[in-house]
Amino acid sequence: MSGSIDRSSLVSTPSSSLSARALHGPPRSGKVARSGPLVGALTQTTTFHQSHIGQTGVHSYSRVSNPSVDELEVVLGALEDAAPAVAFGTGLGAEAALFFALLRAGDHAVLGEAIYGGTTRLFRQLLSELGIASTFVDTSDPENVRKAITPRTKLVFIETPANPTLKLTDIAAIARVTKEASGGNAKLAVDNTFLTAVLQRPIELGADISVYSTTKLIEGHSTSCGGAIVSNDLALLDRVRWMRKCTGGIQAPFNAWLTSRGLKTLPLRIREQSRIAQVVAEGLAKNPFVQVVNFPGLAGFPQAELAARQHLEGLHGSVISFEVVGGASAGKLVLENAQLCALVEHVGSVESLLTHPVTMTHADVPAEQRRAAGITDGLIRLSIGLEEPEEILADIEHAIAIAHEAIVPAAVAASTTINGGAAWVAR
Ligand SMILES: Cc1ncc(COP(=O)(O)O)c(C=O)c1O
Repeated sequence: MSGSIDRSSLVSTPSSSLSARALHGPPRSGKVARSGPLVGALTQTTTFHQSHIGQTGVHSYSRVSNPSVDELEVVLGALEDAAPAVAFGTGLGAEAALFFALLRAGDHAVLGEAIYGGTTRLFRQLLSELGIASTFVDTSDPENVRKAITPRTKLVFIETPANPTLKLTDIAAIARVTKEASGGNAKLAVDNTFLTAVLQRPIELGADISVYSTTKLIEGHSTSCGGAIVSNDLALLDRVRWMRKCTGGIQAPFNAWLTSRGLKTLPLRIREQSRIAQVVAEGLAKNPFVQVVNFPGLAGFPQAELAARQHLEGLHGSVISFEVVGGASAGKLVLENAQLCALVEHVGSVESLLTHPVTMTHADVPAEQRRAAGITDGLIRLSIGLEEPEEILADIEHAIAIAHEAIVPAAVAASTTINGGAAWVAR
């Protein structure tokens, strides 16, 4: 399809499956003859002809809108039965535009203490300079959010599962608390990057806004950055779109086109990656040198009831975090000795990826906030790709064995000198 989309002819109906929407876009009203290319054309242009002075067509300039970006926005919105999304060059670009759209000097936001480090940096270091206050709380208890809301609170921002601790937040409960405690003055935004609309639907659960880094699972192939704001609040979307025009954060047409292409296989990928993650998490939990495994699908997961209620299809996403015996130094060796899983600052791709949150994604989060959130120096984030589960597990366990061999004798020696011979305890 080339040219612009007539948004009025698009009707999302719950009867259309998520896979069908990801592949064909939202259902159309009535019988509409389809023509043109099966795959949306890449409209790689900065600008559009104007027939007369003052008469622009649907598009005038690609900082404001572009047909390839439109195509992506329509499908992203349809996945949540929402209006067309607003797409950005990165996830943080989307967040920044949302925050500028909602917050002014003197306003206040309540945020989860374990969220993406870049979101924390935006509030702690940039928005604070502009007079926007923030309070970080453990949102797994809705009462913490209630207590933190003040008459100036305009936004509650949560991420669930939390990054990288995988702690969950009850979206429906937070939606109720936000409405009650703010008297309807605050919006609830949920960063849904880790599960996507396939496995979790924040808007259906009462949130006002879903936020995405499409760089991750949605594009899925590590080839282009992007972000999106999804909502049914048309006035808010208009303001976010206007903010994007003012600040220039729109996604490039080629990146939008790549994101649309990746999105077609999102349901298939995230389902399979989640199944593989389940197997790998269960394997890691059995390893005697692994101290902690965080994954909502594990039998002993403390919030198993919430995971079952909030996550769709009995699947819990593709991200695991874990800590090995020997703390930070052993963790470093695991990260550096994995051969299949790649050491990168990224998550949600078709390749399995390892990240060290403390030095990478969460380096700008103050140490005390990291500690409070359970982001320890030895925590490892593992983003499961599409390799076979056995080979991912074998790779990690091989790296763990190397770390154990290197660290444990040293630890025993140290404990012998310091503690007069206290034995190293493996678990
Ligand atoms: C959960 C989450 N939200 C938002 C972002 C920011 O997205 P981007 O890197 O596309 O700016 C990231 C990046 O890692 C993330 O993991």
